[in-house]
Amino acid sequence: MKTVNYGIVGTGYFGAGLGRILKDLPGAKVTCVYDPNHGEEIAKELSCDFTSNLESLCARADVDCVVVATPNYLHKEPVLIAAQNGKNVFCEKPIALSYKDCVEMVEACQNAGVIFMAGHVMNFFNGVRRAKQFINEGKIGNILYCHAARNGWEPVQDSISWKKIRSKSGGHLYHHIHELDCIQFLMGMPAYATMVGGNVAHQGEEFGDEDDMLLISLEFPNNTYAMLEYGSAFRWSEHYLLIQGTEGAIRLDMKDAGMTVRTPQGEEHYLLHRNQEEDDDRTTTYNTKLEMDGAVLYGKPGKTPPLWLQGVMEMEMEYLNEIMHGQEVEEEFANLLNGKAARNSIATADACTKSIRENKKVALSEILGKATI
Ligand SMILES: NC(=O)c1ccc[n+]([C@@H]2O[C@H](COP(=O)([O-])OP(=O)(O)OC[C@H]3O[C@@H](n4cnc5c(N)ncnc54)[C@H](O)[C@@H]3O)[C@@H](O)[C@H]2O)c1
Repeated sequence: MKTVNYGIVGTGYFGAGLGRILKDLPGAKVTCVYDPNHGEEIAKELSCDFTSNLESLCARADVDCVVVATPNYLHKEPVLIAAQNGKNVFCEKPIALSYKDCVEMVEACQNAGVIFMAGHVMNFFNGVRRAKQFINEGKIGNILYCHAARNGWEPVQDSISWKKIRSKSGGHLYHHIHELDCIQFLMGMPAYATMVGGNVAHQGEEFGDEDDMLLISLEFPNNTYAMLEYGSAFRWSEHYLLIQGTEGAIRLDMKDAGMTVRTPQGEEHYLLHRNQEEDDDRTTTYNTKLEMDGAVLYGKPGKTPPLWLQGVMEMEMEYLNEIMHGQEVEEEFANLLNGKAARNSIATADACTKSIRENKKVALSEILGKATI
């Protein structure tokens, strides 16, 4: 088996975690990392080179794929430089904080003829894959409505992370783009988006400036709908995706982890993750409130992911590595591997942002212009 070489840009919580997984995958090697703050120590741990220069990492002959895990507002530059150097790209979510930047990044990779895989890790949940399979088989009929909630309560933190600053993370909707992306994988692109909300309970110096309550409604062209709730101003925490069809419904519960399928024939239960241990671990993390409500729990450099997330990251990196070894992209993942799904979810997020700013319903065509989806 040939060896695929990876370079990692940003080795904080997630980049270091992805690096540890890649290091141990068959036919994979991490050759170099770049992170001005944590690169040197992680390079030692991964037994690879450390560089103090982004360009030099992207230009290396022994880097086939650049993994970008910098803060959200710093994804664009490494993606563009990697593409210029003909390198494949794995970019963490949200790939960018505006549709315009997403277009530029996706086009740069298209023009360079390289893979642009987005880190939308929810696509690798066993429950999500099973839900898509059941929907394709017609088990719940046609989808009429999806409802996602991802919320909790955020107490005062020791310091204010970049994840709480609107211009750096994009705020809850952009930072937690997973649920919106998943709905768009199931329902396609909405025609209209409306978002209301604001910062209702986290003002002041000890908090960031993101909105802590976001309530979104989406209207799809075929008389179908979705609603999403995001935020950190919810004392009763919830995290789920409910898919309502003409013949049945599917509920993916991320808090009391598991999947339920309800049809006139009865209820069936499945795991959300790879095994019962991972599901139980997620349920415990979300319900014991050791740090904060799970749906708005954030990692930071030096932390390691919980068991269930580690499992999904492993599946995601295994898939990337298989594609890098020449495996054909399955239809299910096609738009994840060309950047289009990631770009389209940011288009809807931008429509939501315009909606709340201008206090109106926004047509997606206002964001997309003449672009084809
Ligand atoms: N898919 C998921 O479930 C998931 C979970 C956590 C984080 N993420 C994503 O991973 C990315 C990183 O998040 P994190 O939790 O690791 O954050 P983090 O703050 O722990 O790490 C970010 C790292 O980037 C480094 N950095 C800052 N500017 C840089 C630059 N210009 N070039 C190179 N490195 C730079 C920092 O020093 C830090 O080590 C974000 O995009 C985040 O949304 C995804």
